[in-house]
Amino acid sequence: MTPYQQLLQDLPRAPKTWLITGVAGFIGSNLLETLLTLDQTVVGIDNFATGHQRNLDEVRSVVTREQWARFAFLKGDIRELEDCRRACNGVDYVLHQAALGSVPRSLADPITSNATNIDGFLNMLVAARDEGVKSFVYAASSSTYGDHPGLPKVEDTIGKPLSPYAVTKYVNELYADVFARSYGFTTIGLRYFNVFGRRQDPDGAYAAVIPKWTAALLKGDTVYINGDGETSRDFCYVANAVQANILAATTSNPEARNQVYNVAVGDRTTLNTLFRLVKKALSSNGVHALQQLEYRDFRSGDVRHSQADISKATRLLGLKPTHTLADGLAEAAPWYVRHLKKQAE
Ligand SMILES: NC(=O)c1ccc[n+]([C@@H]2O[C@H](COP(=O)([O-])OP(=O)(O)OC[C@H]3O[C@@H](n4cnc5c(N)ncnc54)[C@H](O)[C@@H]3O)[C@@H](O)[C@H]2O)c1
Repeated sequence: MTPYQQLLQDLPRAPKTWLITGVAGFIGSNLLETLLTLDQTVVGIDNFATGHQRNLDEVRSVVTREQWARFAFLKGDIRELEDCRRACNGVDYVLHQAALGSVPRSLADPITSNATNIDGFLNMLVAARDEGVKSFVYAASSSTYGDHPGLPKVEDTIGKPLSPYAVTKYVNELYADVFARSYGFTTIGLRYFNVFGRRQDPDGAYAAVIPKWTAALLKGDTVYINGDGETSRDFCYVANAVQANILAATTSNPEARNQVYNVAVGDRTTLNTLFRLVKKALSSNGVHALQQLEYRDFRSGDVRHSQADISKATRLLGLKPTHTLADGLAEAAPWYVRHLKKQAE
């Protein structure tokens, strides 16, 4: 039995109170679904900057009435310290996901990204520390590797940030480390690598590649690719990221605390290959898209290749990804087909 399988058995017998920031977003709502399914008590905060009520409604539709009753939602903004304090009240574990994602968004508007991702982050740290939270797990990012060319990426070796977004995520790590050292407050950073799955937003200028392409293929729109398609990423299905959060928050290994971890599969897939895999997953769901990729210029701020070494998370947290890229696409594709068809009606 893996450490996570053990936790899935143990948690319902000893429920805890969790705070998920950014709960109406993609990763936040997946965390909510898993924790409610495990009979945990959950507080969630979101200001709907990029999240949606429909994500919460969907979670409500898949859990029992008793499980949903254990969820309290606060509409609030992490840029307001008082909202953070209200959210942290009586909480055992914080899973801090709220942030403005996307490299291009941060290049277009660095001030707003900074306010949410750095000021908001610091508010959350202060509130969680003051409320005596047991551990503060936060969404860090593979963008912290910046211009360092080494592959696979190992936690201790980073380069210079390539975007304001990457700066904000690196500053998060610095603050978390200082709070651990200065106040003895437990923090764990999870450097996510291209997470994807159900409820990841396909709309808008800053959508991630998998939902954006899936939506374009379903609607018959042109599918654009930035660069020659040989750019590569370590695509991580959201179930693996959920596993990492739950393992990190509850770890009893003192060595595992006050660290940052890569969260990925440890594999590398080019965008050209990804396109074929997305088409294949859709065709298994009866959608036979005919479009080919349209190549255009590289996008500034993007790193060329990314692949994680996940041995640190495996060793210290017991992380064992359950889904490869293909497994994740197979699980997510029916959801996209259902939801995007519904939207089109
Ligand atoms: N998805 C990925 O591939 C990926 C990769 C690396 C890091 N991350 C990080 O993971 C976290 C979650 O990302 P996601 O993909 O679920 O994005 P998302 O946009 O779906 O979720 C973020 C949520 O935070 C909320 N939010 C934003 N500003 C807020 C504020 N001021 N107050 C309260 N709530 C606010 C949004 O409304 C949204 O619901 C983010 O911190 C992101 O930077 C994601």
